[in-house]
Amino acid sequence: MKDQSAPTLSWRPVETDSDWDSAARLYNLDFEGIAWPGDVPRTDFGTLPADTPRLILLGSRRGEDVVYARCHGQPWYSGSSFAVRVSTWPGEEDLARAGLERLLEWGLLRSATRWEAMVRSDRPSRLATWMTFGFRVKMVAPESHLDLHLIDESRFQALAAQISAQGLTLTTKEEWHRGDLIDRYRARYEFEMEVYSDIPLPEPFVPEPFEAWLESNLPDRRNHHRSWLVLDGDRPVANTEFHGPLHAKESVQTWLTAVARSHRRRGLASALKAHALLWAKAAGYRWARTDNAETNPMFNLNKELGFRWVYDNLVLEASPADFRSRAASGPHAG
Ligand SMILES: CC(C)(COP(=O)(O)OP(=O)(O)OC[C@H]1O[C@@H](n2cnc3c(N)ncnc32)[C@H](O)[C@@H]1OP(=O)(O)O)[C@@H](O)C(=O)NCCC(=O)NCCS
Repeated sequence: MKDQSAPTLSWRPVETDSDWDSAARLYNLDFEGIAWPGDVPRTDFGTLPADTPRLILLGSRRGEDVVYARCHGQPWYSGSSFAVRVSTWPGEEDLARAGLERLLEWGLLRSATRWEAMVRSDRPSRLATWMTFGFRVKMVAPESHLDLHLIDESRFQALAAQISAQGLTLTTKEEWHRGDLIDRYRARYEFEMEVYSDIPLPEPFVPEPFEAWLESNLPDRRNHHRSWLVLDGDRPVANTEFHGPLHAKESVQTWLTAVARSHRRRGLASALKAHALLWAKAAGYRWARTDNAETNPMFNLNKELGFRWVYDNLVLEASPADFRSRAASGPHAG
């Protein structure tokens, strides 16, 4: 079998700026069609609690970095769940397999109760590779993109006007957190724990204690100028925000568009997102991307706003116990 001719790679932890640039080049291959230039792999880790276990590696062959492989704990799920990602060129399945096997040498990943990975539906050979490790499809999250040049500004302005028409206030997180009032973080925390419980995720969400939430949110102000809240009096009742590299104007990722249960079906998600997308266009961004589960009402709401399906993100799950029994008996003994 081809397994026998696995490439000889040398591995090192991702540490220096040039390592992170290499990681970004490889990571961007997963997002071909919409550029994620710059520091996404690094900022990916910015909001993880500091004590979350992680392993972040680059594999090089003949002096060239060819595989980015990383895994980290997912403290928002119960049990010991790890997200796994291996980025290399499409079709380079020997390299992909080598990356996953390298991660698996880490005892912590092997002893986890659950692994999660993501594969694009238009990369069937990568899906087949992951399946040899026991992964199966757990959830489908369509990837949708919006060309901001095409939005109908007057329609979006009319949608956004629904916020003040309901006597509610729109603010940025930058403005809301001016003065570092801890009660305002607590109000956001309560809002987020409620709405996260309603998002279709591969695993049930486990609310974290306020102190843990604060630890990752208090220092993380990178996106506060492009994160919005709708307030009912002093209470946050809707949120939307953009993620993605700050310095690159190609694209933004929409994140946590969510409305308090008490305020749903009043047009607030549509209004807030319309406002945010108008902002992104005025700020010079070209594309917005998102990847909601197909069962999330947000998927159709995005379509109404002009987002177009590009491919499906297949969220995969494996039980390491399955992998161990396959490794003991099957042809793919890692
Ligand atoms: C998804 C969510 C943000 C929608 O917020 P909302 O303010 O109620 O949405 P809107 O009022 O703007 O809805 C616009 C349209 O979307 C569709 N829609 C919204 N929620 C729906 C639902 N639960 N079921 C079916 N269609 C729905 C409807 O077509 C609706 O128009 P209508 O009310 O005239 O029929 C909200 O349900 C929520 O916070 N869910 C939990 C968090 C989440 O999953 N966020 C997205 C992923 S991060």
